[in-house]
Amino acid sequence: METTHRVYAGDSRQLSSLEDESVELVVTSPPYPMIEMWDDLFSDLDPTVADALESGDGSRAFEAMHAQLDRVWDELERVLVDGGIACLNVGDATRSLDGSFRVYPNHARVLEAFESRGFDPLPDVLWRKPANSTAKFMGSGTVPPNAYVTLEHEYVLVFRKGSERREFEPRADRRYEAAFFWEERNQWFSDVWTEVRGELQAIEFDDDELRERSAAFPLEIPYRLICMYSAYGDTVFDPFWGTGTTTLAAMCAGRNSVGYELEETFLEVFAERVGTVPSLSRSVGRTRLERHREFVTERRESGKRLGYDADHYETPVVTKMERGIRLREVVDVDEIDDGYRLEHAPLSLE
Ligand SMILES: C[S@@+](CC[C@H](N)C(=O)[O-])C[C@H]1O[C@@H](n2cnc3c(N)ncnc32)[C@H](O)[C@@H]1O
Repeated sequence: METTHRVYAGDSRQLSSLEDESVELVVTSPPYPMIEMWDDLFSDLDPTVADALESGDGSRAFEAMHAQLDRVWDELERVLVDGGIACLNVGDATRSLDGSFRVYPNHARVLEAFESRGFDPLPDVLWRKPANSTAKFMGSGTVPPNAYVTLEHEYVLVFRKGSERREFEPRADRRYEAAFFWEERNQWFSDVWTEVRGELQAIEFDDDELRERSAAFPLEIPYRLICMYSAYGDTVFDPFWGTGTTTLAAMCAGRNSVGYELEETFLEVFAERVGTVPSLSRSVGRTRLERHREFVTERRESGKRLGYDADHYETPVVTKMERGIRLREVVDVDEIDDGYRLEHAPLSLE
């Protein structure tokens, strides 16, 4: 099986390289409005942002920043297939402007933007990030009433384009081979995710400055979302590609991908590291199988039923739908125009 992965150094407010209805899933994390690290970027996209911030008008700055994201959401609506899913990792911002502290609810503003473009909201996930204890006390410390709750979570907002679900031919292999284990379903489809960072081995950035500048999310987030909301053969799109974590996850999950990113240096860094994808994809697949075997042992010990045998692995599974699961690993990476072509093979267990 082959997949292709294209990356464009460009502005996703205009996705000129993408055809209408050409991607089946969007997984992304935009720059968060009103988080200071993105002030310059939003001011470059629209100078009224800088004016609003300088004059201490937080509401105007918030709206001007979201107006730039809205242009990307317009394009997403065009390139996503009907019934396709969009998953957006977004966090709210807290900020003091002109001496006044408040929260800027990015998730609520993005939700409104998607609903008004004909997307149906689906149940979302709260991703609870590891706490930074030094930031715990905000406001007036231990005296009421002017202390503030510390935000330690972000959202993964989930939308479907339109009200109809995607259709597949009955018993389509590309769907059933992409099934997930029952216990993965229970964990992945829960509405609060903790312990996400580091669960799957990722290409570690030796460059801390780059990691901070890109605000990369852990590999496990796009990997889960891709497994949850796409089938083999689908294309996953990230309009805010950053260091390419979504593409990395799509490569490991055996899906096609496409990305847009303003900062060209991120594309160069990815090119230097893509050679490690075969070993990463093998380790991700093997980790999933090992975890499943641990689950089987625990379930047997507790006397519970495992009703079926997997077709491709020597292991029982809980449900009929899991029998066809077939994990893949990357065995070859070729550079092509605007990206990479990968060859995948069934996961090797040797
Ligand atoms: C929060 S980061 C994404 C990080 C990414 N998920 C990762 O794991 O590395 C947002 C990225 O969007 C890029 N960006 C912001 N506005 C953009 C636009 N209009 N077009 C393309 N890229 C944009 C920024 O340069 C930044 O790299």
